[in-house]
Amino acid sequence: MVPNDGGRRAGPAMRPVVQETYGPADLGAVPIFAGGFINFGYWQAIEPTGPLDEAARIRSQQDLYRHVLDAIGLPGQAELLEVGCGRGMGCELALREYGPAAVTGLDIHPEQLQRARHAHADRLRAEPGRLRFVQGAAERMPAADGEFDAVISVEAVQHFPDLGAFAAETARVLRPGGRVAVAGFFTVDDAPGRPAELAGLLDSFANGLDIARPVTALTGAWAGAGLTGVRVESIGSQVWPGWDRWLSRWWAPGTWPRNFRHAWEQGILDYYVLTAARPPAR
Ligand SMILES: C[S@@+](CC[C@H](N)C(=O)[O-])C[C@H]1O[C@@H](n2cnc3c(N)ncnc32)[C@H](O)[C@@H]1O
Repeated sequence: MVPNDGGRRAGPAMRPVVQETYGPADLGAVPIFAGGFINFGYWQAIEPTGPLDEAARIRSQQDLYRHVLDAIGLPGQAELLEVGCGRGMGCELALREYGPAAVTGLDIHPEQLQRARHAHADRLRAEPGRLRFVQGAAERMPAADGEFDAVISVEAVQHFPDLGAFAAETARVLRPGGRVAVAGFFTVDDAPGRPAELAGLLDSFANGLDIARPVTALTGAWAGAGLTGVRVESIGSQVWPGWDRWLSRWWAPGTWPRNFRHAWEQGILDYYVLTAARPPAR
């Protein structure tokens, strides 16, 4: 990673709604996310009926990372970057289960990075150099050209204001032949009413925390940045019903977080895993 350079690569300012959500409001501390991961999970391996416990929900969140890491296919001795790492739970899982040479977790929010460093203090001490947490924006990464073999991002892309800049930075920090995988939610098409529909259903779109964009906004940005082999996998059926069942412990049908499932069932929103590669050097 490029060391602190006095702000030259400091990147865009954090949006106030992101600052609040992952700072004072600390989304990761609410009971529905207890355990450290802040994502909706990949529920394929979880029994679809019967009572759900916290261990099963955490398993689904780990499985979302496993699905992304399997999709990217890490080469041996990989240098891996996660963009929007939150509390660093996925970085630690990747290190433990996939054996890369090193993992860098990047996040725009300094409080998230503090939490990550605290949660993984033992590993940071035990394996210096294999795990690090760095502050920076997806749109302006404090990293050298070609520094990483692989870039992942899990359920953070909905917050990135500039997908073109994120795509260009991803292409820049990947080495030739390197790969990227992003898990996140997007609208299924670019019908002009989609942002208003989502704002009407979901507070997180209404307050601007989540930004409504079609999945083609990212795949198109990747193609524009020179990435190739773009693949789009819809995983909504493995995400929303399981997550909604977990939410039903606290939230009645029709309350706002339950509307994620509703938006998926209405064909407005879907959850995707998107992959692409930087072409190899000639
Ligand atoms: C929903 S959390 C996901 C955390 C983690 N990936 C997980 O699955 O547990 C989204 C994270 O993205 C970070 N984030 C938001 N906007 C960002 C940006 N523009 N650049 C980098 N990180 C950002 C937030 O601070 C937050 O930690």
